[in-house]
Amino acid sequence: MRVVALANQKGGCGKTTTATNLAAALAQMDKKVLLIDNDPQGHSTLAFGFHERDFTLGTYDLYLTSDILVEDAFLAVSPNLHVVPAGIELSAVEMTLAREAERELRLRRNLRRSAMPYDYVLIDCPPSVSLLTFNALLACGEVLIPVDPSSYSLQAVRKMRETLSVVREKKGHDIVPRILMSDFDTRPLFVRKIMEELIELYADELLDTVVHHTVRFREAAGAGVPVILYDPESRGALDFASLARELAAQEVSVKVAALDHWSALLHGPRVSPAGVLFEADFPRAKTVRITGSFCDWSAKGLPLNRREDGAWECRLELESGRYEYRFIVDGAWLPDPHNTETVANEFGGANSQVVVG
Ligand SMILES: Nc1ncnc2c1ncn2[C@@H]1O[C@H](COP(=O)(O)OP(=O)(O)OP(=O)(O)O)[C@@H](O)[C@H]1O
Ligand SMILES: [Mg+2]
Repeated sequence: MRVVALANQKGGCGKTTTATNLAAALAQMDKKVLLIDNDPQGHSTLAFGFHERDFTLGTYDLYLTSDILVEDAFLAVSPNLHVVPAGIELSAVEMTLAREAERELRLRRNLRRSAMPYDYVLIDCPPSVSLLTFNALLACGEVLIPVDPSSYSLQAVRKMRETLSVVREKKGHDIVPRILMSDFDTRPLFVRKIMEELIELYADELLDTVVHHTVRFREAAGAGVPVILYDPESRGALDFASLARELAAQEVSVKVAALDHWSALLHGPRVSPAGVLFEADFPRAKTVRITGSFCDWSAKGLPLNRREDGAWECRLELESGRYEYRFIVDGAWLPDPHNTETVANEFGGANSQVVVG
């Protein structure tokens, strides 16, 4: 699972346009996508035609109630595309949590508990460096910074990178940054100058795809559908299809950088001389067991124990080799939701995999 925050404290630079259209483009590529609207303006929610009357649970509840998970709060746009909606109530999070310790880790901890098998989780941030944005940054492995061609854009990128440094130094959390030229009409001279400066300063982080300026985005937003559905042949739709392909093509390298980091947070199996530690957050389960090729897929499996923090764990001593396994959660056989290594099984599902030695 790749968790990507859309962030830039500069307002109106294309965060929501990117979040919603990229989510739709990835879903069209058959990726399972969750978009979390993390902005009290609720624009990502509106962009899919949802209104406050359409939901009772939303992003606010993920922050405030540890029992409410993504699986309780999402609205389905399509089988591959889910949205956790937000409205003005989200602006109360900052004050409500003002005295709470580790309040910047709320979203990350909540996401960790979800067993939903998303390929991508996109988080649309508000135009500020607030508690909501810090929560998104600490939950993500990658940040996508949309930059529109205006005089303050370069300053905004500098500020964003400073924020990422603070997160790295104060929290030890390393995030892979990517910069997206958004809403670019590449003809005027001043726009080309901004492009040149971005290339000179941030060549490594700058995405190849440019999202061009087109009036279709405003029309599509007004109609409550992403541009890729509103006008699939439009320049905007093609740009986002290209962006989705560019991001998906990085999956291999991301595995090394962001994904490993994220899966470590999510307790994929950890191999050490003391054995293989299997951990999982199934907050509502009464029993969790593990079965796999190491015990001949015994129907009974081996028990995991519930820890004080609510997660389940067991340590198995396994000889060198490759093992496939599944958890048995209250009788249901599931792959490890936090392990990105899977192999197709003969029943049309996926087994989780761990290699020892
Ligand atoms: N490529 C584009 N071409 C034309 N209009 C665009 C483009 N990208 C964004 N816009 C328009 O610019 C406005 C701001 O975009 P958007 O809402 O995505 O920015 P944002 O960064 O999410 O804003 P905020 O900081 O308020 O959350 C919207 O009206 C959107 O339709
Ligand atoms: Mg927005």
